[in-house]
Amino acid sequence: MQFITTTKDISKLYSQCTVIPLFDRGKSKNFSAIDEISDGFLKKTIAHTAFVPKFKKCLVVHTPHTRHKTIILVGLGSKTKFNRNRLNQIAAQIAAQITALNPKSVLCCLSEMHTRGLDEALCLRQSALALHQTLYRYTTTRSHDKNKELKVKLQQCTFQICEENTTTRRAIKEADAIAHGTNLARDLGNLPPNICTPTYMVQQARKLVRSSKKLHLRVLQEKDMQRMGMGAFMSVSQGSSEPGYLICIEYRGASKSKAPVAIVGKGITFDTGGISIKPSATMDEMKFDMSGAGSVLGTLASCLRLALPINVVGVLACAENMPGGKASRPGDIVNTMSKQTVEILNTDAEGRLVLCDALTYVQRYKPECIIDVATLTGACVVALGQVTCGLMANDQALADELLSAGEHAGDYAWQLPLWDDYQCQLDSNFADMANIGGRWAGTITAACFLSRYTEKYQWAHLDVAGVAWHSGDKKGSTGRPVPLLTQFLISHSK
Ligand code: BES
Ligand code: MN
Ligand code: ZN
Repeated sequence: MQFITTTKDISKLYSQCTVIPLFDRGKSKNFSAIDEISDGFLKKTIAHTAFVPKFKKCLVVHTPHTRHKTIILVGLGSKTKFNRNRLNQIAAQIAAQITALNPKSVLCCLSEMHTRGLDEALCLRQSALALHQTLYRYTTTRSHDKNKELKVKLQQCTFQICEENTTTRRAIKEADAIAHGTNLARDLGNLPPNICTPTYMVQQARKLVRSSKKLHLRVLQEKDMQRMGMGAFMSVSQGSSEPGYLICIEYRGASKSKAPVAIVGKGITFDTGGISIKPSATMDEMKFDMSGAGSVLGTLASCLRLALPINVVGVLACAENMPGGKASRPGDIVNTMSKQTVEILNTDAEGRLVLCDALTYVQRYKPECIIDVATLTGACVVALGQVTCGLMANDQALADELLSAGEHAGDYAWQLPLWDDYQCQLDSNFADMANIGGRWAGTITAACFLSRYTEKYQWAHLDVAGVAWHSGDKKGSTGRPVPLLTQFLISHSK
């Protein structure tokens, strides 16, 4: 997909498909110009259809007798209500409208979309990003013929904007990089669990690392983890005949003396629940339980593409949670690398078990801060739905940075409290803590568990159970939170 920008007047441009966003009040130069070219056809059609440019309302008008063959009017609603959240919804709407018409090229007129609080570069970036994202197609396990049938035609998109400068060029570049990383995460998530095993994750990490001298790889095998006392990680992995791996990737974009940002992802390539087995109905979706790890790899790919001046260490905690003969039982007590003991009361709360050891291990890199990403709890989906992920942190400055990165990227996070008051729910009669905290506040007690392994560091936890994939008709990975994490690193590296 090729993105071009132009500052030309719309009456000087040609297009097979032209998108014109409109606020509900005030004059639009683009609209008037096109109306003129079409001999007033646009105004007449609007009168016929009673179209009003309310927020997200669209109208497709065919004007084959003009130099703009099809016009898509997109309502922006009120100018005063237009904000970053609305921008992202509009960007998605525009992308959906374009994909539905499936043209080879498109002209998207953004020159009138920015407002006082919302600059043109962001409008441009989010529009380009949304288009990239709707054009994604999963192809790996479908036949050639089927893929051909589903192929999108769009090759080129021209954005008409007011001003071309370094910021607008950067915006296109960021959209491209974020989309690239997001789509890598989506591909990994969408792969079936018989292909995307922990071993496959190692291969994919290796592939990325080979592509650049800035990347360095270290892979811990089960015997290494055993030796280091990662009893919690092993208790999950031991139930499966697929070996687990702790994959550590360093991105060196800044001077060696600068402490890295650590990003740790849950990489359960399939979560059956183990002996505390899950109901079978939608269990196939548990192939997405490696999305945290996938998003860490995707974020590193975005980071590399933007050549960000920052050091990052990404850790992918990859294992399969199976109810094999060697699987751990409810009641088992294991030792963690941090020397704290854990009573496993539910083998389906496995994410925190692989993560606690990964979080202890990553401290060897003396990171500036640690962020973990995990499809950790069903409770988070109940609390926040599929719009925003849950954020919990032991440091408010870090939390604020992540919240604002999420808003910027249209990949939202929402903070939940991580108060000590919840910690007692993890009390165990036989170990230092239990791995579950009972019925209430499941998302928070899961974070409380992790907090016990990150006390010495600035740490934040993103529960992405609700946002990492879509269920139902649109079943598939979203690649979230790659946009949030990449934005965080972009802002943080400044
Ligand atoms: N991977 C699941 C969380 C999950 C469930 C994500 C459904 C998305 C949809 C996680 O490993 C899990 O099973 N969590 C349990 C924890 C419970 C046993 C304390 C859950 O949420 O039910
Ligand atoms: Mn589970
Ligand atoms: Zn899980």
